[in-house]
Amino acid sequence: MPADDASRDDAKRVTFFDTTLRDGEQSPRIHLNLREKVEIAQQLARLGVDVIEAGFPISSPGDLEGVQAVAREVEGPTIAGLARANEKDIAVAWEGVRDAARPRIHTFIATSDIHMAHKLRMDRAQVLATAIDAVKLAVSLSPDVEFSCEDATRSDPAFVAEVIGAAIAEGAGTINIPDTVGYTMPTEFQRFLLELYERVPSLEGVTLSVHCHNDLGLAVANSLAGMEVGARQVEVCVNGIGERAGNASLEEMAMILRTRAEDLGGLWSGIETTEITRASRMVSRLTGYEIQPNKAIVGRNAFAHEAGIHQHGVLANPLTYEIMDAQSVGLMKSELVLGKHSGRHALRQALTDLGYELDADALNEAFRRFKEVADRKGELTAMDLEALMEDEMRVDHAHSLELRDISFAGESGEKATARVLVRGSDGEEYAGEGAGDGPVAAIIGAIDAAVGSAGTLLEYSVSAVTDGPDALGEARVLCELNGRQFTGQGVSPDVLEASAIAYLRAVTASRHADQTERMAESGV
Ligand code: KIV
Ligand code: ZN
Repeated sequence: MPADDASRDDAKRVTFFDTTLRDGEQSPRIHLNLREKVEIAQQLARLGVDVIEAGFPISSPGDLEGVQAVAREVEGPTIAGLARANEKDIAVAWEGVRDAARPRIHTFIATSDIHMAHKLRMDRAQVLATAIDAVKLAVSLSPDVEFSCEDATRSDPAFVAEVIGAAIAEGAGTINIPDTVGYTMPTEFQRFLLELYERVPSLEGVTLSVHCHNDLGLAVANSLAGMEVGARQVEVCVNGIGERAGNASLEEMAMILRTRAEDLGGLWSGIETTEITRASRMVSRLTGYEIQPNKAIVGRNAFAHEAGIHQHGVLANPLTYEIMDAQSVGLMKSELVLGKHSGRHALRQALTDLGYELDADALNEAFRRFKEVADRKGELTAMDLEALMEDEMRVDHAHSLELRDISFAGESGEKATARVLVRGSDGEEYAGEGAGDGPVAAIIGAIDAAVGSAGTLLEYSVSAVTDGPDALGEARVLCELNGRQFTGQGVSPDVLEASAIAYLRAVTASRHADQTERMAESGV
């Protein structure tokens, strides 16, 4: 049961450091645009995370701009930017976060023998000296500095102790111990952390953080083990996304602390758990990473009781099979909010209730989209509206390819044909026709013909945003374009139209990636 506010002990508060926009964004095939990053960051703020790691500013101009936008627009959490332990990275990370009300530079260097020998080509003395210089520089710029020993759990604890002792002496306020390759196990990790406490008395005076990867499925268990021996910051990603098998999942950590607080000696967090479902859906939509149905907390089966015996028990008393209630993670019946006669004022109110704050232009665009869908679908629920808003957010009207018109022909058993009209990023309209074994192949052919792309569809799925025959359809594609993989997602009352939108998004993402690469190569 959750501890009530009065019984909460500040020493037991766990800081949530969310790295969805940095470690999460490093997952293969995730490409978030600036507006998507800001939107996710706003939701993380509503969720009550303490720190948002908004990106790795040196990695690309887009990353720097994303971090700057989050730092300038998102109020509440500390905004962190990642930097390797060198002058240029740290200076650019500071450019990224300096406008935040609470900026943080997070600098790191590897301490394991294998990383030092093969990646850094440095010996221990060089790594120690580099870490000291990096923290010194970061502290001279930022009031808040975090230092991480990459691959800490495969490092010699005596050396990690020496490096973190020096980082603390230089002024790092948070010391992060990453299990970079997801190798450690709970009790082993605890012994490692306890040895650090023993060797480095000054560790008691700063925040110990853990950053666990999920290669062996132990990220959350290891993070929890860390909290039990004194770590008070946990680094997490929404839906557990992140490099390879991902990072510790935010929603699992938050709900463990809420559900088992007493058994964890009163550990607690500031997470507003009722925002979890919305954060999870948003991240899934904007990243194109679907959530497995049986995923803890946010999978669609997590609160569903299929078996008759379970249903009976849950109806008699929810506690028979439920250890958490669905409302506590924000999973509520999606009420009807708007109909096709609803006006701009009602839309603004519904969006405000959902937590969206739109300026006049954005409201006009949202209203146009809402009317378009409401005219075809009749009524919209809160979940529909949420899906539409997130879909709308994906469109950078000045730079995206947009579907203007689409039509199909083809009897069952015959080849399908499609025609599209697409508005290019130059504002011109381009028409194309395509044919294929099915309507989706025909759409892709028509779009390729219109805009000159040449994509191969690798994965395709459609799902319904809400229940019922008139649900909005959501299509997701994974395509290969110019030798690289891109995802796209689209929402529409018509699933084929949603599929066309999804493919156009993937093509837009590939064009942006090509452009960013060209700019980076030419040094712009
Ligand atoms: O996994 C890792 O080691 C990291 C560090 C940069 C913190 O992501
Ligand atoms: Zn990581």
